[in-house]
Formats: sequence, structure tokens, C-alpha cells
Amino acid sequence: MTPQRFAEAQRAEAVHHREAWTHLHVGPLPHVQSIVDYRYWLESYYRTVLMFFGFGVEWFQGRSVIEIGSGPFGAVACLPPGDRVAVDPLMDEFAEYMRPQWTDGVVRLTARGECLPLPDERFDAAIMINCLDHTDRPDKVLRELARVTRRGGKLFFMNNVKSRVGCLMAKLGEALRIRKLMEVYHPHAFTSASAIRLMASAGWRLQGSAWSRARLESEHRKLSWKGRLRLLLNGESAFYGLFERT
Ligand SMILES: C[S@@+](CC[C@H](N)C(=O)[O-])C[C@H]1O[C@@H](n2cnc3c(N)ncnc32)[C@H](O)[C@@H]1O
Repeated sequence: MTPQRFAEAQRAEAVHHREAWTHLHVGPLPHVQSIVDYRYWLESYYRTVLMFFGFGVEWFQGRSVIEIGSGPFGAVACLPPGDRVAVDPLMDEFAEYMRPQWTDGVVRLTARGECLPLPDERFDAAIMINCLDHTDRPDKVLRELARVTRRGGKLFFMNNVKSRVGCLMAKLGEALRIRKLMEVYHPHAFTSASAIRLMASAGWRLQGSAWSRARLESEHRKLSWKGRLRLLLNGESAFYGLFERT
């Protein structure tokens, strides 16, 4: 990927988060009426990756945790207090409006997952939610994350995945710059199988997997036939993986 393409994705990402946290532009979340509601909603969303594999937040008590691509708030902010590190390349930008929301106890670093300023085997567990397809070099990020996580450490992972046709359309869009097939935030696209393969090659063994797909009828009715066709072909779902560092 070119540096320009990554910068384009990150610019869009920065606007998206700022709009959410300063103007409550949060998409189709009809019951989110305030920033406090949004924080609660995020907490529920982050917990799905634990729920599927039988973990509660208390499991993190006494364990050191790193989160890659935390966004402005982050799953680590919703865990019991402890050794918590959140990493995001946009952290400086988030700091401009997020300071009132941030609680003590989370160390927030401005860095890319491809190059973590942290020692080997520093953490017991890692979290990566909705980040992999945003990164510049997904393979490098996963290898770096394996480096800073101890052997036997867990990775709680979530990313949207597509059908093979959906991935093919996204790749064509990227290669030929066909705007209608591209998603500005997501320079990469994965099927769950290709994500699991990439994980394995970076030192992460799959221990559990789950998929979910939600649909709000009111939103679905607003889609044009083209929108519905695209949805069908993309076959998008949220993929959750529990991985162990080999
Ligand atoms: C869609 S947001 C997800 C934020 C949060 N995890 C959540 O689910 O609410 C994707 C995040 O990944 C971050 N990101 C993009 N490239 C990255 C990279 N190379 N290393 C680490 N994080 C990255 C973005 O800055 C952005 O904050």
C-alpha cells in the first residue's frame, strides 16, 4: 500500500472519531442520545469479544494488557484497573478532545502497531478490535503484537470479514481506484480464513472463533436495491477470534 493510501484512510478515521465524540455522529445507534450513552454502548460492543469465549472482565485482574488500534476510548478503558497500554497512531489527535473522558490508569501511546516501542514479552494479553483492515501492514502488526506478548498469552480479536467475492471486489477497487468498490477506512479486506492464516504465520494459534451479523430493519428498508445487492455480495460479518501466542 502507498503511504498516501494509508494517510487517506487515517484522515477519514480521524474525522469519523472526532465527529462521534464531539457531535455524536455515531451512525445507526438509535438509543445513543449522549456521549455517556456512547461510552456505555462502546463498553457493550467491546465485551462481545470476551462473551463468545466465556471470559468476563474479571479475568483481566492482575494481567498486563495491550490494545492495538484502541481508537479514542478503547476496550482497555473498560477493564478492571491494572497494567493497561493503549496504542493508536492517532492518539495525539484523540487527546485534543478526549482528555475529559480518559480515566487514570491507561497508558496511551501514539504509535503504529507495525513498530511498537515496547520490550519483548511485556504483556499477558492483547486486544485488537476493528483495526487489522485499517493498518498499513497487517502482517507486521500481528508479528509485533506477538513479540510484545508472552508465550501462551491470549489475543482477543475482532474484525469485519467479507465473502471471497466481497474481498475480490475490495481488492479490485483498491488496485484500480474504483471509488464505489473501495471503503476509504479499510485499505485491506479479509475473509475469516485469510485472517486466520495471517494470524498463524505471525505466531498466533486459533483457540476459538465466532461470527455475528446484526440487522436493523429500519436501516435495511432505507437501502436501494444496489445497496442490498452489495450487502449480499459482500457477505460481511464480524469475526471474533481467540488466539494464543505460540
Ligand atoms: C475503526 S477504529 C477502531 C477503534 C476501536 N478499536 C474500536 O473498536 O472502537 C480503527 C483504529 O485503528 C487505528 N489504526 C490504523 N492503523 C493502525 C496501525 N498501523 N497500528 C495501530 N492502529 C492503527 C486507527 O487509528 C483507528 O483508531
